[in-house]
Amino acid sequence: MLTTPLDQDKFTALINAAVDGIVIINHAGIIETVNAATLAMFGYTEEEIVKQNVSLLMPSPDREQHDTYLKNYLSKGTAKIIGIGRDVMAQRKDGSQFPVHLSVGKFTVQGAIQFVGILSDQSARKTAEVELEQLRKYNYHQDKIATIGTLASGILHEVNNPLAAISGIVHELQWGEAADDLPESAKNLLTIVQENIERITNITREVSDLSTPSSNHVELYSLNELIERTLRLLRFDKNNHDIDFVTKLSPDIPAIEGVPDHITQVLFNLLVNAIDACHDSKPMHVVEIATEMTNQAVLLTIHDNGTGIRPEHLNKVNEPFFSTKPPGKGTGLGLSLCHSLLKEEGGKLEIDSTFNQDMNNHSEKSHGTTVKVWLPQNRKN
Ligand SMILES: Nc1ncnc2c1ncn2[C@@H]1O[C@H](COP(=O)(O)OP(=O)(O)OP(=O)(O)O)[C@@H](O)[C@H]1O
Ligand SMILES: [Mg+2]
Repeated sequence: MLTTPLDQDKFTALINAAVDGIVIINHAGIIETVNAATLAMFGYTEEEIVKQNVSLLMPSPDREQHDTYLKNYLSKGTAKIIGIGRDVMAQRKDGSQFPVHLSVGKFTVQGAIQFVGILSDQSARKTAEVELEQLRKYNYHQDKIATIGTLASGILHEVNNPLAAISGIVHELQWGEAADDLPESAKNLLTIVQENIERITNITREVSDLSTPSSNHVELYSLNELIERTLRLLRFDKNNHDIDFVTKLSPDIPAIEGVPDHITQVLFNLLVNAIDACHDSKPMHVVEIATEMTNQAVLLTIHDNGTGIRPEHLNKVNEPFFSTKPPGKGTGLGLSLCHSLLKEEGGKLEIDSTFNQDMNNHSEKSHGTTVKVWLPQNRKN
């Protein structure tokens, strides 16, 4: 407790030394005093802010409703923040928004009620939370792929032994002593059997290859090969059997220097988004994947004729945690993860989409979503 009265100079020095923003308002919400931290946080000068309604510092809908909050508190004692404190959004002079923790206290000076708000900028903490969540999601995806790989290796092992036995018998029938007794038509059939045995072996090997130790190792990789492998895995999922994956992969694109595992993650996220959008729409699902060389970089295009993105959502889809999917189906981190991974690869991603009002109309190829990913041939470290 203060034992001597605090003079104006000391009071001003005290509030200006505070790291957090301090805003004092009167009973009607009019700002009477702000400290230096508040001005720095919001980008206003003292003249611009003092005597203004405090709602100036808030985005909608709080901006329009703040006067009512105050009135309700003063008439009925209903407190939304006063005496409680909570995380809210604040709005800078330039219109940008940022998270703050706001705690509000009430005091009375010479019979007049006043409120003091202490604002602590939470942007850094929120960014750290988002990064942590992205890392979690990245690891989750890696774990998922690794699990599929382990499973596939197990299957490969189990399947390979009987396959080797079958293959041996077929080989014996084709080329061994018994071969002389077999008619030509039977030998032809055996060739088909042998080819199919090879196909099974290749499929299991591909899946287990896909997951072999994921790393951050920079190497030269073939984008087309990563696409083929990722698609093979997605095609295994019987939920995707109604989707026609069409590839237009240019044989002329160069090997790319980078972390192939990052690109596999990006492909997975983008293709799963495309698949989800198709499942939400009527039949005739097509996901088209194309690669081509442009002047600057290798261009990967993924086009789907699914639902498309509502125009009002288009500038939000890249934000972390924005998802239109039901809980448990999407965390809303897929695209932001793609952006961070591509940044590391020196690449970038752009989304263009036409929302499908009429899902029965698939005649227009432009319907749906097109994601373009540019990857430089050489990663700049
Ligand atoms: N190809 C697409 N077609 C239609 N909408 C899309 C497409 N790709 C993304 N979106 C929209 O963007 C939102 C955000 O996508 P993002 O990949 O970041 O998260 P998510 O798919 O919802 O969840 P997560 O990827 O974390 O599982 C989606 O919820 C969806 O509304
Ligand atoms: Mg996604």
